[in-house]
Amino acid sequence: MSPAIGATLNRVDGRFKVRGESRYSAEVQVTNLTHAVVVNSKIASGRISAIDTSEAERAAGVLAVLTHRNMGRVATVPRLLPSLAGLAAPGQSFFPMQDESIHYGGQPIAVVVADTIERADHAATLIRVEYETTPATTLLDQDRDRAYVPERIFGGLLPGQNSRGDVAKALAAAEVCVQATYRFAPNHHNPIEPSASTAVWDDVDRLTIYDSTQGPNSVQLTVAELLGLPPISIRVVSHAVGGSFGSKAMVWHHPTLAALAARHVGRPVRLALTREQMFTSCGHREEQEQQITIGAAADGRISALRHHKYSLTSRFDDWAEPSLQSAAVAYTNPNYEGVYHLVRGNTITPTFMRAPGEASGMFALECAMDELAERVGVDPLELRMRNVSDTDPSSGNPWSSSGLRECYQRAAELFGWHDRDPQPRSRREGQWLVGTGMASALYPVTQPVNPQRAKARLYNDGTAVVEAGVSEFGTGVFTAMTQVAADALGLPPERVRFVGGSSDLPNITAAVGSAGTSAVGSAVHVTVCELRDQLIRRAVADDHSPLHGADPARVQVRDGKMVLSDRPDVGETYADLLHRTMTPDVEVLGTWNPPPQDAGYGIHTFGAQMAEVVVDAELGVVRVRRMVGVFAPGRVLNRKLAHSQLMGGMLWGLGQALLEATRMDPRLGRWANSSLADYLVPVNADAPDVVVDTIEQHDDVVNPIGIKGVGEIGVVGAAAAIANAVHHATGRRMYELPITLEKLL
Ligand code: MOS
Repeated sequence: MSPAIGATLNRVDGRFKVRGESRYSAEVQVTNLTHAVVVNSKIASGRISAIDTSEAERAAGVLAVLTHRNMGRVATVPRLLPSLAGLAAPGQSFFPMQDESIHYGGQPIAVVVADTIERADHAATLIRVEYETTPATTLLDQDRDRAYVPERIFGGLLPGQNSRGDVAKALAAAEVCVQATYRFAPNHHNPIEPSASTAVWDDVDRLTIYDSTQGPNSVQLTVAELLGLPPISIRVVSHAVGGSFGSKAMVWHHPTLAALAARHVGRPVRLALTREQMFTSCGHREEQEQQITIGAAADGRISALRHHKYSLTSRFDDWAEPSLQSAAVAYTNPNYEGVYHLVRGNTITPTFMRAPGEASGMFALECAMDELAERVGVDPLELRMRNVSDTDPSSGNPWSSSGLRECYQRAAELFGWHDRDPQPRSRREGQWLVGTGMASALYPVTQPVNPQRAKARLYNDGTAVVEAGVSEFGTGVFTAMTQVAADALGLPPERVRFVGGSSDLPNITAAVGSAGTSAVGSAVHVTVCELRDQLIRRAVADDHSPLHGADPARVQVRDGKMVLSDRPDVGETYADLLHRTMTPDVEVLGTWNPPPQDAGYGIHTFGAQMAEVVVDAELGVVRVRRMVGVFAPGRVLNRKLAHSQLMGGMLWGLGQALLEATRMDPRLGRWANSSLADYLVPVNADAPDVVVDTIEQHDDVVNPIGIKGVGEIGVVGAAAAIANAVHHATGRRMYELPITLEKLL
């Protein structure tokens, strides 16, 4: 294997970021720029009965005040479709400001455009709105009686229920049953960079949107449909994106509102959401409850799993994060039933949030597994070992690769699991009760549906530029792509430049579902391999080349040189070949066609999480002391990037366990803590000693570079390991996230 892949290459964009030179979408320099400020509904349900914009219109610097009366009409509102389909991907199938109706708190009701952001902000405060309010549902329990089981969820991608075998019969026959209900507070993504769009119409009536997104092509196609324009009329550029975690996976209203406002005022418009607006404009992880029943034999072998989820969706869409998918295949289990129950509420449609579904679904399963271990008197790790499935239990197909057993073993070694006394409250250090817990981590390997493309050009100085429409939102994908290209071309990474972040570049699906690097990486790999092979074919066909007449299969590339595999002293550089043949460059557009969804394998990523916590015996304060996560993500492209991603995921799991909650005030139908001061995320002071390790697996089923993705699995199981450790420390089971101290008093 070439030195490029697997090496710890520092981020190619790192130096620009730390010097403040990266250009985010609200920082792009545009002449004649104006600024838009969105005004949001203060009620959650009803209609606007009167809106007076006259004072705002007269305010200094104001160019336009847009409401449902004069905002441009959208051509169609495409139905919600997850952005991994590669098509238009609106976050919800409702577009605001088309009439006076109000369906959720924070719904956009006016857009003020002014020459400065301060003047737009001020004018926005001068708009007078009167509402007719109707009763709103903003909490699951308010309308639980009206729960329904949808035909499909998740933008139509998944069925609303699933089963195999006979659960009722198996549960009745089970020697041991564990039944539990888990509740989850809503969560918000809170990336450091709030979403922003800068919309510029040029003199040939082409729209450029500088947007903060996980998928420039998704934004292009969605805005095109909304505006009724062909895709050729729209270009979307994302130079740098300051985090997302799923909030920028789907296409929300702001880029289209910016485009409509820019058309209205005839000047470029910048629309940057405030932190508070991020809580009502880009979806969230929905409030939910999960009921789980595990049936098992006396030795802990699972015979049945029933898993029902109740969650709050919007008035418009049957959205549920797919919390049941990984739990359904985590262990050997012939009898299974999973059902999504939805309650319609006055909320924006919820959305993907890092480890969508698995973060909550595997919490429920893995906490229930800990109870099962206690009930049958088996060590929690041994219980998992007994239930490992070597095939995908939903289809009986073999896994393309697993590594789960190795993850358990390595995690146990790194953590020191085997010395554990299973008795709760058995360790105390002064005021602190000490406990340890573990959980399995599973995350599906998501495959894009549409072909993935990339372009590569090698210049006659032996440098290469590789392009694809993916955006860099913090995952390190530009760095990893530099490595993939350098590897196949046999070039040092500093001679390769990767360019992404524009819908004008070859089409790549939005980077979601931990599949960003694998999708673009496969396209880049296929493309640069084709480019390399073309260069080799040229060399062996050229009678002036030292490789003339050689078998192309016996030519290798390294250090910018093509050489015979068995005679590395015979060969020539790319530069020599191209100079001699008077060729300025060679270029290839390559396509990777993802394998069919049912290729005869179960494809999933696996891992193991362990945590040690201390709980103050009197105050209930929980501190996580250390975490160990071991994952088997196929091949690791860049150890530093992959381990950082996994560590970030594990700290997200810590946040999910102990801190993160958005609180709905049902009297107002609005979030009560929509700021980073009130919505708590883990900071350095919360961060324990985190040990990350990976078990490399060879997997040639998933894609040509053999990677399964590391973006999200680090989150999965981390909260369960912590909750299980809290039980071990205190003897108390935690059924509600986050675990705040009053639950331990
Ligand atoms: Mo990721 S939460 O699937 O964008």
